[in-house]
Amino acid sequence: MAGRTQEALYRELDLELSWSEEALPQIERTKHVHGLHPYLGKFVPQLVEVFLRRCFRPGNRVYDPFCGSGTTLVEANAFGCDAVGCDISAFNCLLTRVKTGRHRSAALELALRGTLDLALRGDGAGERASEWARRWYAPRALFELLAYRAAAEALPEPVRDVARVVLSRAARSARLTTHFDLDFPETPQREPYWCHKHRRECRPVGEAAKFLSRYTDDTLRRLRAFAAVRTDRPVAVLHADARAVELPEPASGIVTSPPYPGLIDYHEQHRYAYELLGLEDRRDAELGPAVRGRRREALAGYADGMVAVFRNAARFLRPGAPVVIVVNDSLDLYPAILDRTGLELEERLTRHVNRRTGRRAGEFFEDVLVCRSAEGR
Ligand SMILES: C[S@@+](CC[C@H](N)C(=O)[O-])C[C@H]1O[C@@H](n2cnc3c(N)ncnc32)[C@H](O)[C@@H]1O
Repeated sequence: MAGRTQEALYRELDLELSWSEEALPQIERTKHVHGLHPYLGKFVPQLVEVFLRRCFRPGNRVYDPFCGSGTTLVEANAFGCDAVGCDISAFNCLLTRVKTGRHRSAALELALRGTLDLALRGDGAGERASEWARRWYAPRALFELLAYRAAAEALPEPVRDVARVVLSRAARSARLTTHFDLDFPETPQREPYWCHKHRRECRPVGEAAKFLSRYTDDTLRRLRAFAAVRTDRPVAVLHADARAVELPEPASGIVTSPPYPGLIDYHEQHRYAYELLGLEDRRDAELGPAVRGRRREALAGYADGMVAVFRNAARFLRPGAPVVIVVNDSLDLYPAILDRTGLELEERLTRHVNRRTGRRAGEFFEDVLVCRSAEGR
């Protein structure tokens, strides 16, 4: 966006991609599995739908090297494409696997309700909890989360993964945070506080059971809703570094939104899940969070990382394959990144974003870089 005047910016806006709140309300942006778990930095599914229609055909294979919570993979499947995604965050891979997995509805419901019953009657007393968990949960909430975890770990796959997502979502809601700062809480809130969101005095959460129960219902409902619109096309989720990942098969093109430099630490963002589920922590390989304060070397490292990801991806693409990259490029890093990667920019579309999925207020602009792969395999 740097260097462009307001007038030029408004001239370049792609109105088909700049939905108003009325045209695209939150309920549509978080339809079926897209609302399975809160996730910062997810792009709206309707944006993916537009570019699947513009650049792909059913039967193609769509690749997302930064699949995050799985938006591209879910939409590619619904569109009739094969899909393959990669992410460095084990939690994001878990979310994507659960969203795109094929679940047997009746058996899943029986297993999840059984797990909840067992947990609510159960005993989390013997379960180990990390120091972080003891700090961020009221004793009763932690006890209930640990009892649910014990019951969930006894389940067979893939039901166990679904239960882990229910547990993670409940663990997020049950933290000792204020209601208005669930995204970036810094210290546990132990006393009643004035709540800016509800405009009254609120108390920190003392239990987790009500969330476990509410999210069990919601998860079942969302998975059923996606099952009604999904296709049989295969979906693969790889927990790997996109700079070096080996795709099992060539891809027809890419739809992705890379991490923004210095904005969100995707491991820290879902810390509760890493703590409770004991997931593998690969934060050292995460591109983005290292760039704090826009230090020149860190930005150069980010750009090198992006170049490595798109060069690696090019090994699996035919020349001319569509590569759609959604970015908030306020630092104007992408022209050089594309240049070094050998991607040919066809169109740079600017989109007005009213509000993203999640609770970040305010408005901003993001760019969609529609490119073509120039390198052959
Ligand atoms: C902006 S988010 C993608 C969001 C996604 N489009 C969605 O709608 O959920 C960027 C993702 O890049 C992942 N990431 C960061 N560094 C990575 C790396 N080296 N390899 C693979 N994924 C990485 C982060 O874990 C994060 O999930």
